[in-house]
Amino acid sequence: MTLRSLLVCLSLGTYVACLAPSGPWDAFNFAPASRTVYPVSIRETSGNVSSIGDGLTLSGDGSYVTLDFAFEVAGPISLYFDDVSESSSIALSFTESPLFISPTTSDDSDTVSADMSYDGVLNVPAPLPTGYWTQPAAQMRGGFRFLTIVSTSDGAVSFSNVSCGLNFMPHVESLRDYSGYFYAADPKYVDQNFLTKIWYAGAYTVQIDTIPYDTGRDPNHPSPGWANNYPIGNTGAVLVDGAKRDRSVWPGDLGISLPTQFVSTNDLVTTRNALDTLYAMQSASGALPYSGPPISATAGSDTYHAWTLVGTYTYVLYSGDFAWLQHVWSNYTRGVEYLAEKVDETGLLYVTGVLDWGRIGQGGNNAEANALYYKVLTSGADLASWLNDTDLADAYATNASALKPIFNDALWLADRGMYRDNLTTTFCAQDSNSLAVVFNLTENATQAASISEGLTANWGVYGATAPELPDTIAPFIGGFELQAHFIAGRGARALDLLHREWGYMLYTPLSVQSTLLEGYTTNGSLYFRSTDGYDYDASYTSHAHGWSTGPTSVLSFYVLGLQITGPQGQTWAVAPHTAGLPYAEGGYETPLGWFGVRWSLDEGWWNATVCTPEGTSGSVTLPVNGTVSVDGDAAAPDDSALQLSGGNHTVSVQLIA
Ligand SMILES: *[C@@H]1O[C@H](CO)[C@@H](O)[C@H](O)[C@H]1NC(C)=O
Ligand SMILES: *[C@@H]1O[C@H](CO)[C@@H](O)[C@H](O)[C@H]1NC(C)=O
Ligand SMILES: *[C@@H]1O[C@H](CO)[C@@H](O)[C@H](O)[C@H]1NC(C)=O
Ligand SMILES: *[C@@H]1O[C@H](CO)[C@@H](O)[C@H](O)[C@H]1NC(C)=O
Ligand SMILES: *[C@@H]1O[C@H](CO)[C@@H](O)[C@H](O)[C@H]1NC(C)=O
Ligand SMILES: *[C@@H]1O[C@H](CO)[C@@H](O)[C@H](O)[C@H]1NC(C)=O
Ligand SMILES: *[C@@H]1O[C@H](CO)[C@@H](O)[C@H](O)[C@H]1NC(C)=O
Ligand SMILES: *[C@@H]1O[C@H](CO)[C@@H](O)[C@H](O)[C@H]1NC(C)=O
Ligand SMILES: *[C@@H]1O[C@H](CO)[C@@H](O)[C@H](O)[C@H]1NC(C)=O
Ligand SMILES: *[C@@H]1O[C@H](CO)[C@@H](O)[C@H](O)[C@H]1NC(C)=O
Ligand SMILES: *[C@@H]1O[C@H](CO)[C@@H](O)[C@H](O)[C@H]1NC(C)=O
Ligand SMILES: *[C@@H]1O[C@H](CO)[C@@H](O)[C@H](O)[C@H]1NC(C)=O
Repeated sequence: MTLRSLLVCLSLGTYVACLAPSGPWDAFNFAPASRTVYPVSIRETSGNVSSIGDGLTLSGDGSYVTLDFAFEVAGPISLYFDDVSESSSIALSFTESPLFISPTTSDDSDTVSADMSYDGVLNVPAPLPTGYWTQPAAQMRGGFRFLTIVSTSDGAVSFSNVSCGLNFMPHVESLRDYSGYFYAADPKYVDQNFLTKIWYAGAYTVQIDTIPYDTGRDPNHPSPGWANNYPIGNTGAVLVDGAKRDRSVWPGDLGISLPTQFVSTNDLVTTRNALDTLYAMQSASGALPYSGPPISATAGSDTYHAWTLVGTYTYVLYSGDFAWLQHVWSNYTRGVEYLAEKVDETGLLYVTGVLDWGRIGQGGNNAEANALYYKVLTSGADLASWLNDTDLADAYATNASALKPIFNDALWLADRGMYRDNLTTTFCAQDSNSLAVVFNLTENATQAASISEGLTANWGVYGATAPELPDTIAPFIGGFELQAHFIAGRGARALDLLHREWGYMLYTPLSVQSTLLEGYTTNGSLYFRSTDGYDYDASYTSHAHGWSTGPTSVLSFYVLGLQITGPQGQTWAVAPHTAGLPYAEGGYETPLGWFGVRWSLDEGWWNATVCTPEGTSGSVTLPVNGTVSVDGDAAAPDDSALQLSGGNHTVSVQLIA
């Protein structure tokens, strides 16, 4: 931590949001300094396009220019009409991927259509105004990189000063004011700054997915066209699934986007707004919705029901917001009961709400759903104990303890070394095996190692295909697989997957090279879910999906190794994985203060500094064996973990030669 940020944190008394220290990592922050951004280059032109100074003239019907903002942006376009004739008119089209640049249509954001014809263009008819013009707020695009301006009349039109007014995270002054940071060297990869870049790409993706509550996607408009003026929450800004689409609250997505938000901007109020949307829609049966408005599917998904409950725990763990927890507590406990009622004579939950993240074959005594139910019970026990409801905490913990051996007896395939999908199949999925490790359903380290090994059978050059959604790479589930490899002690393998899957997404010229794709096919194409709802409309795929940002929290939680285990970090655990890397540093804040770690592995030493707030306590698990000292004094770790109180500590390990 630098002196500057320390002063910022300490000088203002009890709790103020404090900024992460500045350093070389700031160069990788995608968030711009100003909310007004300008295109940086012309990507292509067609017809008669001429430029004078920074102005452009389009002459004749169909002449167009495509401008490149160089990264993913969102918000209304403004420009200055310098010269128009009475009959001049233009149209605007937008796209995330450069593959879909077209003067006649935008990439699809509203409805799938195999010929990409749904959204069309935004017509600005004659007579054009002269002077300053701004796109109507309802027709702003929620996510794009390329803007095409086309002349739609025989006349000429001259304009200049094209800009986009970024309208996400409206409640913060500077989009670059992060409360966390991450920086690491990745010397064996083609781009040594990759890990730092992907951390910031994930952070920026979640920022652009944090939208004003009244700018959700409105399904009620004719095609061609689109509208982003639907209320998807009640107040402020809301964390949604994606920038271009759906611009709705989806509880599963929070399983990844919420931890990303915590370690980068700590803008948790927008997650609380999302959870409020979901609880307000709870049905009399106790069922929580599959998604927020306007899709508003209720009671269709047992797994997404569980994700709202898990998100509740995660939000309260990070924020310590017990007042809000008390406010939703009766809804929460009804939600747990709703799942308990689905447990059948096998002792496993039987899924009847089969909607899920897009996978097929959901249903029955499904392993992924039961792993989620287990997480609901273990985390529900923590929530109940934080509210001093010890009877309920015991009841949840008892049910969790009962479920774990049943899960293992019924679903573990010893010959495959993986969990099967349900009781009537030998098929093994990516989601359940990853989540079983992450949620601690494994009974021993051998099992976790075997799952980590088994999952690699699904790998290709572009990442991990999810066998439960054939021909599909699902970075949402990939984010849990990354965690599973680290937990299994296979850090280098996790980095290998990170390079393949997130390296592909960040660098491929098909993408916006700044925010992260919703998903893609095994061969790297954008035909995500073509046979599963997206009808071969590759333009519909979102390029800024919070559920694909797994690496951001994974790098903070497993490479830095910094995790909080009690509300606001009252207790914490530092367990870095060196994973073949020489160096990492970073941290984040909670209302208790700054948590930071810096470690290096060099010349026979592993050295670390660990900074946590006074009054907290935690453990440091060493990633290497050797002669240990803490704050200069010899120390004898118990089971390779040191117990420390809050404050600054230096830990040095001289490796055994
Ligand atoms: C292109 O447009 C400019 C400006 O309107 C005009 O002077 C020129 O004649 C046009 N050229 C062609 C080939 O149409
Ligand atoms: C140029 O665009 C910016 C951003 O929309 C605006 O603030 C400024 O007033 C514009 N300048 C002119 C001359 O239109
Ligand atoms: C709890 O659920 C009911 C619907 O069953 C809803 O009306 C209410 O707003 C919810 N309470 C909270 C705090 O979200
Ligand atoms: C524990 O599990 C049993 C059996 O599924 C169920 O009847 C009971 O409601 C559960 N208790 C809680 C607190 O969830
Ligand atoms: C069990 O899993 C298989 C493979 O995913 C799936 O095809 C089947 O439909 C599932 N069974 C039930 C009852 O859902
Ligand atoms: C739980 O009990 C402890 C000890 O009495 C108290 O400090 C704490 O405020 C209580 N928690 C809540 C959420 O009421
Ligand atoms: C995993 O579960 C076992 C009980 O089955 C428990 O002893 C252990 O502490 C759990 N580990 C974590 C990290 O929660
Ligand atoms: C680990 O747990 C699995 C599932 O219960 C069991 O089949 C296996 O024998 C255990 N392995 C070891 C080494 O204890
Ligand atoms: C990639 O996969 C998609 C979907 O399976 C297919 O439509 C496309 O033709 C493939 N592209 C190449 C270059 O093989
Ligand atoms: C690690 O710490 C030890 C003990 O303080 C010191 O002698 C050594 O130079 C340090 N190594 C590095 C690479 O910082
Ligand atoms: C430390 O040594 C023990 C005993 O040889 C071994 O089991 C363990 O894996 C080692 N730990 C690390 C982090 O290398
Ligand atoms: C913590 O360490 C930083 C340097 O990394 C130092 O500036 C600061 O004074 C230390 N804080 C405390 C409370 O010791």
